[in-house]
Amino acid sequence: QGRKIISCREMQSTQDHAKKLAIQGGSEGTIVVAETQSAGRGRMGRSWASPPGGLYFSVILRPGITLAGAAGLPLVAAVALARAIQPYTAVAPGLKWPNDVLIQKRKAAGILVEMSAEMDRLDWVVIGIGVNVAAASVQLPPEIRRTSTSLAIESTRIVHRAQLLGDILYELEEALDMFQTQGFEPLRKQWKEKSHTLGKHVTVVGSRQSIEGKAVDIDGSGALVMECAGGIRQRVTSGDLFFKGG
Ligand code: BTN
Repeated sequence: QGRKIISCREMQSTQDHAKKLAIQGGSEGTIVVAETQSAGRGRMGRSWASPPGGLYFSVILRPGITLAGAAGLPLVAAVALARAIQPYTAVAPGLKWPNDVLIQKRKAAGILVEMSAEMDRLDWVVIGIGVNVAAASVQLPPEIRRTSTSLAIESTRIVHRAQLLGDILYELEEALDMFQTQGFEPLRKQWKEKSHTLGKHVTVVGSRQSIEGKAVDIDGSGALVMECAGGIRQRVTSGDLFFKGG
């Protein structure tokens, strides 16, 4: 597919730039990529450290799905990202709900999905992806050093960022095509195969409450199904997941 690529050495946030373009009518497939970000954003209002040597980009989508159907998108993106990264790593990446890519239990990449809808019709979606590519452990911010890793630390071969970007975009396109033609089910299956979450005791911290229990399934809309005290099952649609005992 023909794409428009906007590439900058430094940007505040590729996500914010792509969102601005999307609001102005930017076309599906437009990609904004930067060498570093001065105000990179993560999920749940966090910042995303973006030193040089990483891969930071955002892509505009205009998928023909409903707002309700879009709940699975973060997981679809995570499956694509894990597939793209897999050939580079000695140990296969695992997924932490909803959309973190882990290598050896440490986070190597993150995904931020933001969207706008009119009634139930999606207008635009911006998927932002940040991959720790070159960072050595000491270059990661101290507060995430214990829980994060990079492809340089985990990889078996030299990683060329342009190649990696191409690989991710290819997998993303494949996964999104599948999502739009076959629905979430095949991707839910792939997510579960790559899961590093299910079967574990976790706490999910949401904006209103935190829930503790065993992560047992992903439902048909991408929500996490948890088994809590007394065998009660709860569906969790958003939040931050922590593994019990680290
Ligand atoms: C997370 O795990 O919290 C999501 C991290 C998403 C980071 C990417 S880097 C490219 C894009 N621009 C941003 O400001 N954030 C996303």
